[in-house]
Amino acid sequence: MTTVTSSPTNPKLPNIHKTPALIQVIQAMFDQFGLLEKSQKKYGDIFYTRKSSLLPPFVIFSDPKAIEKLFTADPNLFEVGEQTSVPIRILLGSNSLVVLNGLEHKRQRQLLMPPFHGERMKKYGQTIIDITENVINQWQVGQSICIRDYTQEISLRVILKAIFGLDEGKQYNELQENLVSLLEIFNSPLKSLFLFLPPLQKDLGFLTPWREFLRQKQTIKDLLNTEINCRKNNPNTFGEDILSLMISARDENGQSMSNEEIQDELMTILFAGHETTANSLAWSMYWIHYIPEIGQKLIAEFNSLNGKTSQKDYNSITKLPYLSAVISETLRLNPVVVFINRQLKQPFELMGYTFEAGTSLLPSIYLTHQRPDIYPQPKVFKPERFLEKQFSPYEYLPFGGGNRRCLGYAFALFEMKLVLATILSQVKLELLDNHPLKSTRRGITFSPAGGVRMKVKALR
Ligand code: HEM
Repeated sequence: MTTVTSSPTNPKLPNIHKTPALIQVIQAMFDQFGLLEKSQKKYGDIFYTRKSSLLPPFVIFSDPKAIEKLFTADPNLFEVGEQTSVPIRILLGSNSLVVLNGLEHKRQRQLLMPPFHGERMKKYGQTIIDITENVINQWQVGQSICIRDYTQEISLRVILKAIFGLDEGKQYNELQENLVSLLEIFNSPLKSLFLFLPPLQKDLGFLTPWREFLRQKQTIKDLLNTEINCRKNNPNTFGEDILSLMISARDENGQSMSNEEIQDELMTILFAGHETTANSLAWSMYWIHYIPEIGQKLIAEFNSLNGKTSQKDYNSITKLPYLSAVISETLRLNPVVVFINRQLKQPFELMGYTFEAGTSLLPSIYLTHQRPDIYPQPKVFKPERFLEKQFSPYEYLPFGGGNRRCLGYAFALFEMKLVLATILSQVKLELLDNHPLKSTRRGITFSPAGGVRMKVKALR
């Protein structure tokens, strides 16, 4: 790895990126991973970009010791910056957990956490298997499919069930359709640009992505609002779902959440809880078929359990070591979120440099997962590395870390295992995209380019 030398103009700062922030943002739309690799090669293990009208100063790094320092520091030293969170505020709303700070953040996390962990999460096991089987039943032998469309359908239906306690009916079909259309607006890097560049956030007449985005978002908000009011007026419909939880929640002053707050939180769970899982599942399906021995080993592992997948105890499926290793390796090599972002509220020392308040600290998930000192031959898909060694949370961080670690990480892993086990034990597929695939931007997440085309060979 390149040796770090400090900036000649300020010995307290690391190497300074010569490319202006705006150009970096545009480059990152089209080739985020290439830009990161080239920058690291040129500037070393930690590099800094000066403040601009678009972004605060930011520093990118991948050293596990620096990541450990960040994740174990007092969370009150950091906040979610106004400028860097613009895309999230636009997409999810300003009351989203992802942009809340301090006590408000802690309180919302405590409220939303339980359904995604432990026994409450396990209650969704059968639902996940049923929804996956229902989706598989749409396939016919000989049919060509884009696997990401189906992993998205599965993960969206699963999260709708967790939120509303239901995954069918007119209201849910409408929500599902509109959410997919909203996310389709960002299905190319070019269209994703307007999320990141405020000058493009203007209504320039029909057909402009911004107008289309606002229209779609309003439709979804109206649908959510109707559902919230409907539940509020019928307390007998309350269950263990997330919407019921939010409607019943009261703060220490007895104050309930406003409809606007509930809408933004629902958008957060809907979006964060399905797009990421859908992309990661599509990547797993790609690798399992691109390297056929991996698929064979998985089938052998499933066969070691008795009975059809749907009748098996899903606790056993989630404990299968090779299946877990395949998923871990997918999330290492193809992270769907590239950075973690913590903005400093006061000066902070990291790797021998001092960063001023206002600086965004961006540990790069991608660059950390590509370090040859932690992962020899980092570009090779090799699940065995997770069977041979346990990595620290500062070396392996697909779900971030510290007090903002992904709220749904346990749920995502649980869901991925059950979906993969169900598909692989019941359908034989052939990979049509049998060549190296690039990761491409879809708004704020990354997904396999083209969505992974496959052919249905046989139903087992
Ligand atoms: C493979 C799937 C997923 C990946 C790779 C992923 C990744 C991430 C990452 C990297 C973060 C930022 C963490 C940080 O700043 O330290 C995050 C935050 C978050 N994720 Fe996930 N996620 C996934 C699935 C889910 C699911 C299923 C949910 C459903 C509840 C979810 C809900 C959230 C929420 C609410 C946050 C914000 C947490 C906070 O700011 O306190 N994610 N996720």
